[in-house]
Amino acid sequence: MKLKSAWYEVEVNPEDRVLSKEELISFLKKGKYDAVLALLTDKLDADVFEAARPSVKIFANMAVGFDNVDVAAAKKVGIMVTNTPGVLTDTVAEHTFALMLAIAHRVSEAERFTRAGKYHGWEPMMLLGTDVSRKTLGILGLGRIGSRVAYHAVKGFNAKAVYYDVKRNEEFEKEFSAEFCQTPEEVLKKADFVSIHVPLLPTTRHLINAERLKIMKPTAYLINTSRGPVIDEKALAQALKNGVIKGAALDVFENEPAIEPELLKLENIILTPHIASATEETRAKMTELAAENIIAALSGQTPPNLLT
Ligand code: DGY
Repeated sequence: MKLKSAWYEVEVNPEDRVLSKEELISFLKKGKYDAVLALLTDKLDADVFEAARPSVKIFANMAVGFDNVDVAAAKKVGIMVTNTPGVLTDTVAEHTFALMLAIAHRVSEAERFTRAGKYHGWEPMMLLGTDVSRKTLGILGLGRIGSRVAYHAVKGFNAKAVYYDVKRNEEFEKEFSAEFCQTPEEVLKKADFVSIHVPLLPTTRHLINAERLKIMKPTAYLINTSRGPVIDEKALAQALKNGVIKGAALDVFENEPAIEPELLKLENIILTPHIASATEETRAKMTELAAENIIAALSGQTPPNLLT
């Protein structure tokens, strides 16, 4: 809408699916596009950028995460890449809490139980869950979303926040009485709930593996709304099955849209299909911001969210 009202001609992917790399390249080779609004499901690598030259000036990724884009390859051929940070922080933090509360209070499991006609009357020990209030929340990755999750936990649930990040944030520590941990292991050891908010990088792939799961408390829960490959899903399935940790809630998966079949069999996990930022308000803001980046680039200005 924003692009159309700025008098740009807009062509939308005619297929109701992600284009293959070959299809994307053959579209780009027509040489008629000045800009591309891409989704996180589009793999944008050196071949794609080569095909996009010289007409395409910018790929505007409609996501805060950009692990689908080889930014260095784009830079090498002079193509700009942007993302959509900031506008989805509240929504992803809310979804993280939705998952955390749901797994702690066994909401999905209880709903399945109720719908299956198994509720035959109130019982004091039925479907006992765990409180989030006053627990220790471990944050891996204290960026915008990680710190917003910590804010909700500390201010709303009287929780204690412990965190690991490559960059220490002393101001945050002071404001939220949060504790910095020198290693992810230290967070895993201390936390009752571990929430992951790191970008997907070679250094964060399988950040949570079998060894690290063993460091967590057997009563702890793991929440992931960042990127799937940060967790070794097979190791997580084993850990959940064997009581190494108590539960998990995932919005993202290692090989999306595929999900490790062992995870699907478990009761002590909640799975949502990469919808942490999927609210009407936030999707509108994300598309708007992607469009603003395109308009800026095509008007000869530096796009507000240029990745370098
Ligand atoms: C992002 O923007 O990176 C999110 O994963 C989309 O929900």
